[in-house]
Amino acid sequence: MVGTREQYLEAMGIPVWVPRGAKPMRTSDSDEINGSWEDLQDVVRVCTKCQLHQGRTQTVFGVGRNDADLLIVGEAPGAEEDRCGEPFVGRAGQLLNAMLGAIQLTREDVYIANILKCRPPNNRDPKPEEAATCTPYLERQIELLQPKIMLALGRIAAQWLLQSNSTIGSLRGREFAFGEQATPLIVSYHPAYLLRSPLAKAKAWEDLVLVRRILQVHK
Ligand code: URA
Repeated sequence: MVGTREQYLEAMGIPVWVPRGAKPMRTSDSDEINGSWEDLQDVVRVCTKCQLHQGRTQTVFGVGRNDADLLIVGEAPGAEEDRCGEPFVGRAGQLLNAMLGAIQLTREDVYIANILKCRPPNNRDPKPEEAATCTPYLERQIELLQPKIMLALGRIAAQWLLQSNSTIGSLRGREFAFGEQATPLIVSYHPAYLLRSPLAKAKAWEDLVLVRRILQVHK
């Protein structure tokens, strides 16, 4: 007989690491972002809060089920995403679809969003001030969605969400607790990295198995 959730996860072989004093979830109390999904999408669509709006074709809000159990968080839109208005539609997105398929999920089963809603020029890394400006949108998405589990893809998303400087190699393979709800958060490699480094796919598979097991725990 398994007692607490932590004991259950441990019995399942799922490593648990819950940081003390989880980071508060909201960094903004602005009324502007307190509304519904539609309200939030309208606000994001016309956002000019940072310089990135100058170079975008359109914002990339997020896609998927508004009641998904799994929230996948990437870094920022690339060229294809900027063109289509949807996250992870390029080559990396196709690999992400295949990764989801490996755990019997489709894009339609999950919600996919990025730290940034606008494409940085020449696909450069997001600047901390851009991430900070955009974060209230993601935080409101998380509040509205209330995911059972989050999957951070790549160093940028993982370090930003966990406010950590640790390497992705040391962040992956265990469970974090995100925000006030202590939502389980798993870190894995970005699909774009996996396209360049196929040997890392074995570890990414382990991460996906962890995601699947945690989803099963929450069923
Ligand atoms: N890479 C990301 O991190 N997000 C996207 O939407 C596309 C590529």
